[in-house]
Amino acid sequence: MKNDWSQLVKNMPNRLAPSMAKDHPNLPVVKEEGCYYFGLDGRKYLDFTSGIAVANTGHRHPKIVQSIKDAADQLTHGPSGVIIYESILRLAEELAEILPGNLDCFFFANSGTEAIEGALKLAKYVTQRPYVISFTGCFHGRSLGALSVTTSKSKYRKYLQPSAFTYQIPYANVKECPPGADPEVYCMEKVEKDFENLFKHQVTPEEVACVIVEPVLGEGGYIVPPRGWLHKIREICDKHHILLIFDEVQTGFGRTGEWFAAQTFGVTPDIMAIAKGIASGLPLSATVASKELMSKWPLGSHGTTFGGNPLACSVALTTLEIIKEENLIENSRNMGKYAVMKLAALKEKHTVIGSVRAVGLMIGIEIIHPVSKAPDGEGLLKILDIALNKGVLFYLCGNYGEVIRMIPPLTVTKEQIDEGLQILDEALTEYERNSMAVSSQ
Ligand SMILES: Cc1ncc(COP(=O)(O)O)c(C=O)c1O
Repeated sequence: MKNDWSQLVKNMPNRLAPSMAKDHPNLPVVKEEGCYYFGLDGRKYLDFTSGIAVANTGHRHPKIVQSIKDAADQLTHGPSGVIIYESILRLAEELAEILPGNLDCFFFANSGTEAIEGALKLAKYVTQRPYVISFTGCFHGRSLGALSVTTSKSKYRKYLQPSAFTYQIPYANVKECPPGADPEVYCMEKVEKDFENLFKHQVTPEEVACVIVEPVLGEGGYIVPPRGWLHKIREICDKHHILLIFDEVQTGFGRTGEWFAAQTFGVTPDIMAIAKGIASGLPLSATVASKELMSKWPLGSHGTTFGGNPLACSVALTTLEIIKEENLIENSRNMGKYAVMKLAALKEKHTVIGSVRAVGLMIGIEIIHPVSKAPDGEGLLKILDIALNKGVLFYLCGNYGEVIRMIPPLTVTKEQIDEGLQILDEALTEYERNSMAVSSQ
């Protein structure tokens, strides 16, 4: 007799590696639709996670479901180099239209991490330089190459310290800006100094292949850098003929209110890694560069079996169509602004909200301890549990797990934002009441 579903969930700790099965809250779900998950418990949950910034077109959009069925009727696997098919070629053409500058040539893969691996390998190969510079706090994936530039949490690197040649400098931090100074100018001067010091004391710029950066810090805490900071990095890279890589795995496909964060900030990198929102949940990613740069990366220097899967490419084409037809980029900007306006009111009401950081529908709500004002990951989990119990799913990020990630599908409506933030308001009230009761005991 086969185990029933709930029995399987009970047996999960024996069958799934804890590193896979133990995140928060690991909600057992039977179905997804639009902005909602349907739980094994029979309840409907408003989803403010988008499957970690993946379901930008909403869950199981009818056109996506149809597109999967249609594609499956034709081709399910496209072994790269053995066959070639229309969807991958058409997708490359369409992506070239929406990407900034001359980013028009693609190596398709399956995950964000792979797109990062490709970007690092491409940069090293074409420059023939060994070193890479990344920013402390950034997350770029967990394979050994990607991990060599990932520094969002040391637990990701424990016992795995990658031997690849990388250096880190600090990410933009407006909180460190002295009172009265302009935060943008401060961050620009700071990053210039950090590069100068690195070049003076540790590595010469001639040895550096690339600088890799998340244009908005994701897993590290949803930090939106000042525009000028990214422009300054571009300027430094140009000066030293260092390639600039943007990790747009999380920020792409309308999340920041433009197709890509590169357009939001007006900075074009030399190489880009794109994934998550590209195919509404099917595994697909790409390393992107100009045709000129890619042509220096010959056959055999990189490869894939599953990358650019025909089902995923067809669905990516439908994803782009939906984003355009339903004006989801505009909705990302508008709903983002609306949510931030409502969150500003919540911040006035709840002292445990330290700050709200947002661009488009990439919103971080920092939770601080009611007394010490320190980042409060423990408190955050209690708040998320209460919110989940009341029917809204949020995710978390930040060095201390202290930032609520609010990343609803880009199809989200005002009413759904009202519903979700009303519940967050109630969860914060209940949490504050509980913590006051504990502290007065
Ligand atoms: C900015 C960024 N880069 C890379 C990755 C790794 O992507 P994946 O988990 O698809 O390998 C992630 C995943 O969260 C990410 O947010």
